[in-house]
Amino acid sequence: MSIALRPWRTGDADAIVTACNDPLTQRYLPMLPNPYERSDALAFIGRGDTQRAVIDADTDQVLGAVGYAPKGEGVASVGYWVGPAHRGRRVATGALEMLGTELFKSGFQRLYLEIEADNLASQRVAVSAGYSREGIARGAGRRPDGSRFDMVVWARLADDPPGPSPRALPDLPGGRLTDGVVVLRPLLADDAHSTYNLRILPDVSGRSVVGTPLDPAVVARQCAESGSKWLAGVRSEMTIRRADGDLYLGEIALYYAEPVLKEAMIGYSLTPEARGHGYAARAARLVTDWGFDIGMARMIAGTATDNVASQRVLEAAGYTREALQRERLPGPDGARIDNVAFAKLRPAVT
Ligand SMILES: CC(C)(COP(=O)(O)OP(=O)(O)OC[C@H]1O[C@@H](n2cnc3c(N)ncnc32)[C@H](O)[C@@H]1OP(=O)(O)O)[C@@H](O)C(=O)NCCC(=O)NCCS
Repeated sequence: MSIALRPWRTGDADAIVTACNDPLTQRYLPMLPNPYERSDALAFIGRGDTQRAVIDADTDQVLGAVGYAPKGEGVASVGYWVGPAHRGRRVATGALEMLGTELFKSGFQRLYLEIEADNLASQRVAVSAGYSREGIARGAGRRPDGSRFDMVVWARLADDPPGPSPRALPDLPGGRLTDGVVVLRPLLADDAHSTYNLRILPDVSGRSVVGTPLDPAVVARQCAESGSKWLAGVRSEMTIRRADGDLYLGEIALYYAEPVLKEAMIGYSLTPEARGHGYAARAARLVTDWGFDIGMARMIAGTATDNVASQRVLEAAGYTREALQRERLPGPDGARIDNVAFAKLRPAVT
C-alpha cells in the first residue's frame, strides 16, 4: 500500500471520529476531547495547513493523521495517530518521513516528538523514521485535569542520515532467544504480576544491584516502560520461560553500562520453584552469546561472596572469576558488600 498526505476535508469527519474515540488514541493523546464528537472533528479539520490526512494513495481512504506545531525559529513538534484498523502497516512511519521531508525542504531544521515511555509503538515509529532519543522531558505531558507526566523526547535534524536510527541494543532475532528448553522474551506490561511476585522475594530484592521497589504499581510501570529502555540502548530485560508450555521461570537482563568499553553486565533471578534445574545457566548463556552477537567485547556479572548458586550459574555459562571487589555492592541498611567479579570474553573469530 502506498500512502500520501493531503489537506483534511469535511468528508473525513467520520474517519476522524472513529480514530479519536479509539482507546489507544485516547490513552496516548490525552488532551483529545472524550468522547470525541463530530463537532470536534470539524473543528480539527478547520485548523489549517499544519495538519494532514494520511491516506491510501490508491483509494483516498483516510488511514491516519500527521501534523506539526512550530516551536520557535526552524523548530517544530510533530504528532500523529493511525486509525485502529490500519496500524502495524508502517503508515505512521511513512507519514512521519513524508512530513519530515516536506518540513525540512521548507526550512525547518529540527523536528521533535514527545512520546510517553510506555508507548512502544510510537517510539518504534520514531526509530524507523530516523529520530534519535534525546532524553526525558519531565512533566512535559499534560492531562485535562492539569496533572503532568514525563515524556521521552525524540528528534531529527535536517542533516541527519535517513532512518532507521542505529540501536546499541537491537531486537532479539525473531523476537526471542531459545535453546529449546528455555525461551527468553522481552519484558512486557503483561508480565507485571509475575515480575512483582519475583522481585518481592527477599533473596531477590536483597541481591539486586539496580534497586527493587516493592510497590506493585512501580513494578507494573517498569514492565510497561522496559521496551523504552531497550530502545534507548540502556538495558534489555527479558522473562525466562519454559520453551514447552511457557511456564514463567524468572527474569534476566543485559545492562549496557559501558558502551565505550563494549562491556555489558548480566543479572538474573528465578522463582523458587524454577531453581535447581539449570535454567539460569541456560538463560545466562543465551543472553551472553546474544551480547557477543551484537558487538560486546566483554560480558560481566557479579555476585555476593556467599551467593554460591549464582557463582555456579556463571561458571556453567562459561564465565571466569576475575577478582574480589571490596565493598562494590550496596548491602542492607546502607552497608556495602564485597563482589565476586566474573567475566566472559568474546570468542575469537576463527
Ligand atoms: C503509534 C501509532 C501512530 C503507530 O502507527 P502504525 O501505523 O501502526 O505505526 P508503524 O506501522 O509505522 O510502526 C509501528 C511499530 O510499532 C510496533 N508496535 C505496534 N504495536 C506495538 C506494541 N503494542 N508494543 C510494541 N511495539 C508495537 C510495530 O511492530 C512497529 O514496529 P517496527 O516497525 O519496528 O516493527 C499508532 O499505534 C497509534 O495511532 N497510536 C495511538 C496514538 C498515538 O500513540 N500517537 C502517537 C503519540 S506520541
